[in-house]
Amino acid sequence: MIDGEGIELRALQTDDVWLMYKWYNDARVMDDMASPQELFAPSIEEVRRSLERSVGSSRERYFIVQFAGGRALGFVSLTSIDVRNASAELTAVIGETEEWGKGVGREATMRVVKYAFDVLNLHRIHLRVAEHNPRAIACFEASGFVREGTLRDDHYHKGAYRSSHIMGVLRDEGST
Ligand SMILES: CC(C)(COP(=O)(O)OP(=O)(O)OC[C@H]1O[C@@H](n2cnc3c(N)ncnc32)[C@H](O)[C@@H]1OP(=O)(O)O)[C@@H](O)C(=O)NCCC(=O)NCCS
Repeated sequence: MIDGEGIELRALQTDDVWLMYKWYNDARVMDDMASPQELFAPSIEEVRRSLERSVGSSRERYFIVQFAGGRALGFVSLTSIDVRNASAELTAVIGETEEWGKGVGREATMRVVKYAFDVLNLHRIHLRVAEHNPRAIACFEASGFVREGTLRDDHYHKGAYRSSHIMGVLRDEGST
């Protein structure tokens, strides 16, 4: 459990499958993400398989973001955890859209970055964010990430190929 500022992060469990299914199938949540095909409207079986893989993998850490002791709001994850290079990729999804814009995403991102540096002893966290996702870009900039480069036309979104930015934060560099 990682606590702070009214929200908690707790480890994802296999019985969170219906929460993850709901968020992955909510167009408002997934629309602005440069998601791969397997996350596009997945079935409950696909979500269950992916969740079981994730909770059993040492290269992935998923946390449910929730109000202190209560309602689940979304998840944050560290994937592609690379022990030799001390790096990982971060994803943040606040699936309860009425909570957007209240600082939950920033707080959850800062918490998981702190966990990555202080507990996992990582050196670098990076993420990919769609250029047409200004809320996410603002959230990650406020969490200490800087833009490092652009992947041109790396995903198809609403009738056109669009680009993503790679953002990253190094240990001792972020605001955490
Ligand atoms: C991206 C996401 C995690 C951010 O969480 P959140 O709780 O809404 O974020 P916060 O409230 O902490 O921060 C949002 C920031 O965006 C700003 N913002 C909100 N709407 C905006 C808009 N339309 N344009 C520009 N900035 C915007 C807010 O002012 C805030 O910035 P500030 O802290 O400098 O004031 C959440 O919106 C989400 O889950 N979206 C869908 C999934 C997604 O896109 N994930 C990111 C890909 S990894």
